[in-house]
This record gives sequence, C-alpha cells and structure tokens, in this order.
Amino acid sequence: MIEETEFKMIAKTSFGLEEVLMQELNKLGAKDVEEHNRAVSFTGDKGFMYKANLCLRTALRILVPFHTFKVTDEKSFYNSMQEINWEEYMDVTDTLAIDTVLNTDLFTHSQYLSQKAKDAIVDQFRAKHGERPSVDLDKPTVRINIHIYIDTCTLSFDSSGESLHKRGYRDKTNLAPINEVLAAGLVLLTGWDKRTNFIDPMCGSGTILIEAALIANNIPPGYYREDYGFERWKKMMPYDEELWNTIFDGAVNRITDHKQVILGGEISPNVAKKAKENIKLAKVDDVVSIKVCDMKDFEVPAGRGVVIINPPYGERMDKDNIGELYKMMGDTFKKNFGGYDCWILSSNMEAFKNVGLRPSRKIALFNGPLECRFMKYEMYQGTKRVHKLEEGYKKKIKE
Ligand SMILES: C[S@@+](CC[C@H](N)C(=O)[O-])C[C@H]1O[C@@H](n2cnc3c(N)ncnc32)[C@H](O)[C@@H]1O
Repeated sequence: MIEETEFKMIAKTSFGLEEVLMQELNKLGAKDVEEHNRAVSFTGDKGFMYKANLCLRTALRILVPFHTFKVTDEKSFYNSMQEINWEEYMDVTDTLAIDTVLNTDLFTHSQYLSQKAKDAIVDQFRAKHGERPSVDLDKPTVRINIHIYIDTCTLSFDSSGESLHKRGYRDKTNLAPINEVLAAGLVLLTGWDKRTNFIDPMCGSGTILIEAALIANNIPPGYYREDYGFERWKKMMPYDEELWNTIFDGAVNRITDHKQVILGGEISPNVAKKAKENIKLAKVDDVVSIKVCDMKDFEVPAGRGVVIINPPYGERMDKDNIGELYKMMGDTFKKNFGGYDCWILSSNMEAFKNVGLRPSRKIALFNGPLECRFMKYEMYQGTKRVHKLEEGYKKKIKE
C-alpha cells in the first residue's frame, strides 16, 4: 500500500514537449514540478493522479515511483527485486504486466529484463503461498514500469494503463495519423489564443483539428476514454470511484461552448471522409469543418489565426514533387495567409528550404522515430511595418 497522501509522480512525454507539459501541470495545480528528459515529475494526491490522467494533453502516461535500487548485473537485479515485499502492494489474485525502459550499458534486452522481474515476483509468491499472480499483458490489475538509468533502477506503478495518446475518439484507420499527444503539443506550442481562427489545410484524418477543438473548449482529452490502469488497483492504492466521479464531473463542468472557426482542408476525398467521421466521433463537428481541396485553393477567412501543417515528408514521393509541394506551401502562405502564424512540422530538412520563407522559430520534436523541426513563419497583413504600427496602437489603447 502506498501510505502517503501526497506522493511523487512522473508524467512521461515526447522529446520537445517537456515545457508545455510543465505549463499544463502548473495550471492544473501540481506541486514540485520539475523538468526531465522526456518527462516531468510532480507531487500530488490520489485525486490529482486521476486529474492528471484525465486532463493532461501532452502526457503519455502517469507513473508512481515506489522503489529504487542500484544494479550491477542480472543476478543483482533479480535479488533486489526479490528483496521487495510484494505482498505490500498486491496479492495472488492480481494480474501483472511489466514494461522495461533501458538507458544503460548493463543490459540490452528490455523484454528479457521484464521477464526476470516477473520471475522474481511470482517466485516470491509461490514460495510463500504455493500460488502466484498470473500475467495479463492487455489489462493487468498491476502494471509495473522499470526504468534503468546507468546503474539505478526505478520501479513505478503505471496508473494510466494504455498510453494516454489513445484518447478513445478515433475509429481504427489505415492512415498514419500523427500521435494525439504530439498534435496537442503542437497546438499548445503555437500559443494559439483559442479565439482566433485555426486552420490545418492538409488535415489527413483530422487529429490536429480535433485536438485544437478540445483545447478551445476545455474538453479534457480523457473525456472519451473508457479505461485507466488505476481503476483496477486494489491493494497498493485502492480505486476510489466516488473520487474519480467528482474529478470527472468537475472537469466536464468546465467545458465551454465557444464557436471558434476551426477549418481543415484535404486533397483526398477518401481521407477527408475519414476525418469527418473522426470529428463526429469526437463530438466536435459543431466547431470543426473540413473541405476537400488543394491547399493552394483553400479559402482563408479574413482576420488573424494559426495554421499548422503536418505535410507529407516525402518518403513516398520523388524529390522534385516534394520540393514543389513545400514551395507551394510557402507561396500560398505569402499569397493567402496574411495575418496568420503558419507552422510546418516535417522531418525533411531539404524540403524545408523550398518553403522560401525565413522561420521566426524552430523547435526540435520527434514524430515517432523521425526527428522533425516545427517551423514558424509569421505572415503579416500588409507590410511588417504596418503590423508593428498596429501592435503599438493596440498597446496604447489598452494602456
Ligand atoms: C502526413 S498527412 C497528415 C496527417 C494528419 N496530421 C493526421 O493526423 O492524420 C498529409 C496529408 O496532406 C494531404 N495533402 C497532400 N498534398 C496536399 C495538398 N496540396 N493540399 C491539401 N492536402 C494535401 C495528404 O492527402 C495527406 O492526407
């Protein structure tokens, strides 16, 4: 049993999203927020753990660390695992899954180490009771995360279960959509004010648009999800359904009903159809609309706003075509997107050169295994000078 009312947690994320995750945690009321590599640690109670799982847009999972030891080799690892009194946390009726992340030269096979850890736990139960907990890789009652960094092994309980990017709003698709956590991270990184226009003119299955709509109306990303790991916890931190309902209702009560302009474009009618279905499933079809069209013909609403594009990176296109596509994006920004902050996420550094505009920000991110840049191009209405004058004028009025 985890006794303390407040305890340390670790929210895992993707490379480059640590800062936005810290901002999210601070806004949610976390204590002792600290940035790490692809993770942010913080302190909170059981209710906050539920809230973090439900509300954090850029977290992949929420871990609760409970034990740390030094490790030298396989034998010392097994022995240290055996020294823990596992009965404090679980019993023979629990089911187990173990994930291992290695950041060390001591071991090479993470799955093998997960197997060793499972052996140590079940051997202990068998020796004491003649019975052992069984393994359930899909929906275990106890999911343990093992992280070995150089010679330090940290054991955590995984409160999320399936990765939190699996929001539950998307139908199964054969497209290769962007991960929801990355999509939400992109929207938050742009600093979009949630009131000006938002456009993704190459929207694919619509993930970025859906995440923007959730952000705009305060819809918690876990709103659609039906399963969290902590719901199956018994001995170490019994699930409190009443507390979960209070947290869930509190978050739902903060949902707003603004009608922003959130627009998508997609050249392929079949893909656009899929996007429309996803948008409906996410119940944001009242704010998001999609048109089948080439980006160069996209009708841009007047005013200001944010554009995010996750274009093809060119793995399946020849060099000339990909160059032309990126040139078209730059030309169209200049011609049609005055007043907009336009952002492109791509792993194709060569193709970026064809955009032909100077980026005002470059952020390094990973889209799955692909190292990417998220580039910002500020398109002014009229000239830069006029824009600056406008800003100064607005400032004066405010003062
Ligand atoms: C990498 S995918 C976008 C994936 C999307 N972010 C998602 O989550 O599903 C790029 C999309 O751009 C579309 N596309 C390519 N050229 C286009 C163009 N000229 N105008 C509009 N869409 C285009 C492709 O059909 C494809 O669906």
